[in-house]
Amino acid sequence: MFFKRKIIIKDDPVLLAKEAAEIFVASAKRSVEKRGRFAVAISGGSTPRRMHKMLAREPYIQNIPWGKTHIFWVDERCVPQDSHESNYGRAKRDFINEVPISQKQIHRITCESSPQMSVKEYQKILSDFFSFEGTRVPRFDLIYLGMGADGHIASLFLGQKTLYEKEKLVVAVKGGDPNVNRISMTLPLLNQARHIVFLITGQEKARTVQTVLEDRSIRLPVQRIRPLNGQLTWLMDRGAAALLSGDLHHDNIKG
Ligand code: 6PG
Repeated sequence: MFFKRKIIIKDDPVLLAKEAAEIFVASAKRSVEKRGRFAVAISGGSTPRRMHKMLAREPYIQNIPWGKTHIFWVDERCVPQDSHESNYGRAKRDFINEVPISQKQIHRITCESSPQMSVKEYQKILSDFFSFEGTRVPRFDLIYLGMGADGHIASLFLGQKTLYEKEKLVVAVKGGDPNVNRISMTLPLLNQARHIVFLITGQEKARTVQTVLEDRSIRLPVQRIRPLNGQLTWLMDRGAAALLSGDLHHDNIKG
């Protein structure tokens, strides 16, 4: 299996957010044209917020087919939705409440019950939505991922067995910052996406970005993102790309 890797470096986080929003618009239009709907999974953390807020403003808001857009989450912290740590709560406040999308198109991870119950609920949401596709593993049109300075992605952390899960699509995890119960998509689900975009900003991630892109001997969670027959875009600002040698290029990588 091959996947295409693209590296885009923008001068600052605002230009990065604009590029990410343009990718959202283009993917939404293409997915609706080809499949009649757009299935996108978004991440938490701080990096995506600027892009999320842009989606609710001109020129992006009127260029997105909101009536056929379905929003899912890559992961969720098991905290109340009005907590500033809630990925769903933050996305609602940042853009979902401001755009013409119905609640039935918002497929959140509910975490109020037990983590195991939450896993079952989210797995059912995924299988119900993607049931018509007939594929065992749902194939998202677009997934945005952040990366921690420790190389984690989603809520999949180095050394935890959930990182190496090969069958389940959704798992319960305890860890991260905040160190709480979390529900996360797994690598088999993430790597089925047609297009995965890493949103990475800030000097504090430059060392990890350099290690991951230039030293293939290291095996961090982020390096396990290898979309089967898909596209992987590293969208970074100059801070995060500061230590790269500069001879990186777009290429096709054997998955
Ligand atoms: C989460 C995120 C997590 C995040 C990274 C980067 O719910 O915590 O999914 O994986 O994307 O920790 O976070 P920042 O964008 O805040 O650096």
